[in-house]
Amino acid sequence: MKVSISGKLRQRCRRFTVLVLALVALGGLYTALAPSSAAENSAVDTAKRGTTVAEGKQLFEQGCISCHGFGLQGIADRGPSLIGVGASSVEFQVGTGRMPAARQEAQAQRKPPQYSDAQIAALAAYVQSIGGGPQIPPGNLRGGKDDIVLGGELFRLNCASCHGLTAIGGALSSGKFAPSLEDATDRQIFAAMQTGPQSMPAFGDNQISPQQKKAIIAYVQSMKADKDPGGFGIGRTGPIPEGLVVFLVGIGVLLVATLWIAGKS
Ligand code: HEC
Ligand code: HEC
Repeated sequence: MKVSISGKLRQRCRRFTVLVLALVALGGLYTALAPSSAAENSAVDTAKRGTTVAEGKQLFEQGCISCHGFGLQGIADRGPSLIGVGASSVEFQVGTGRMPAARQEAQAQRKPPQYSDAQIAALAAYVQSIGGGPQIPPGNLRGGKDDIVLGGELFRLNCASCHGLTAIGGALSSGKFAPSLEDATDRQIFAAMQTGPQSMPAFGDNQISPQQKKAIIAYVQSMKADKDPGGFGIGRTGPIPEGLVVFLVGIGVLLVATLWIAGKS
């Protein structure tokens, strides 16, 4: 009897200890995973940046090193050196899906990105940590309504020769082209001006100031918000080509219907 009581007691004690340990572990896990408070101290910040760079290094070694080499040095006939291209270029290239490049083509094209935003930030932090270079400034990059007129002037002066007056894009020489700016985000437009991908020139801060870049972004994005002159925007060319498309599609539908009826009878 006595033995069994102390046995039960011991069992209860053990259960209690397990429970306490589980609670402590849960608490620890929570503190580790819970979003940290706004009042983060800089030591935590630095440590976090360290892990981001480490993550970026790992991603780079898996997906980029085969063309861009150890230490970002580049590999002949595969990929250029990335020293000094900066976080801005990485965010642009990977964020628009141009990188990782798939095959040799006249120009790496915009594709759905293969990395998450967090992974892109990590890759950018890694490249920045090794070679430095331009970074996209934090905060709002789009000028206000008052900037749109100035932005339009700057756009016609600096960008329209390649991207077209309405930013729908245009052909350049030897299979290259300036793409439409339809899908570009504020950060991507800023980064494109900062880094000058491929045959696009870079526009440094003394050429187009950050404030002027924001005005250009305001203009480009306001054009997208504009209504097209008529119905669906087929290259913003208005109602006549739209009518033509409706006409051709309509004729096709009629033909199919006629054949179907003929086949039935
Ligand atoms: C198959 C080879 C290949 C792979 C893989 C590849 N790249 Fe590239 N990368 C290129 C080539 C070629 C260019 C230059 C031509 C161009 O810009 O289209 C380039 C250009 C770049 C640039 C622009 C450099 C500049 O001058 O501004 C960046 C940034 C970049 N790559 C980052 C990456 C990152 C990050 C990865 C991994 C996620 C990656 N690349 C994977 C071949 C590759
Ligand atoms: C000499 C011709 C040229 C001029 C001038 C030029 N660009 Fe470009 N732009 C290009 C080319 C070519 C590309 C594609 C580069 C690539 O795919 O790597 C491009 C790409 C871009 C992209 C990326 C679009 C996307 O969806 O991925 C943006 C944004 C852009 N340009 C904005 C501008 C702005 C804003 C200006 C004026 C300040 C400008 N460009 C001036 C040729 C030009």
